[in-house]
Amino acid sequence: MTIKACVFDAYGTLFDVNAAARAVADRPGQERFAAVWQEVSAHWRAKQLQYTWLRAITGHHVDFWQVTQDGLDWALEKCGQNDPELREELLGLYFTLAAFPEVPDMLAALKSEGLQTAILSNGSPDMLQGAVDSADLAALLDDVLSVESVGIFKPDASVYQLVTDRFACAREEVLFVSSNGWDAAAASAFGFRVLWVNRAGEPQDRLPGTPDRVAADLTHVPSIAKEL
Ligand code: LAC
Repeated sequence: MTIKACVFDAYGTLFDVNAAARAVADRPGQERFAAVWQEVSAHWRAKQLQYTWLRAITGHHVDFWQVTQDGLDWALEKCGQNDPELREELLGLYFTLAAFPEVPDMLAALKSEGLQTAILSNGSPDMLQGAVDSADLAALLDDVLSVESVGIFKPDASVYQLVTDRFACAREEVLFVSSNGWDAAAASAFGFRVLWVNRAGEPQDRLPGTPDRVAADLTHVPSIAKEL
């Protein structure tokens, strides 16, 4: 069965989650933060994701902007960086994260092949709009789907179902692309064809579901969509 829609995870896949902390660390006068920015960024992401899973399990949903703030607060305290101005600066940058450099050309190639394109993300609609607008991707995407429509985070199956409902297609007609190993696994278990963008060279998650393809970045998504 041929692929009809290419659907992308947002944070870590299209948008560089380390860009906010890196940008602050690069500024003059930020030597204290520059010494720990990688640690802050890694803790921030890890806690943000843990909170999504824990809130999904316990039924205490809040939106992704709230867990993004909660994860940052934990990370800043852990790294001894309790500074309200720094916190606001990092959050502002996170709202307008940069896309990875290959993203615009890759999406344009998919559109020229007549494929549908979309984001499927934990992100709140506001956050996703902020990132899509600042990276100038709106014209290259047919839709931006947020978990807020179902009120529970990935990897709940109701999230992946948003895609087949939106595009009125079979699960195997979707190529789902994620840099998060657990998201790639869950999407595969759901029945999507899956490309895991393993930017960090990590081992495969020991979870149900195996990605169909693994790549180091997004460059070859259009050719992979044709092959599958
Ligand atoms: C997302 C997170 C998982 O965009 O990166 O859904």
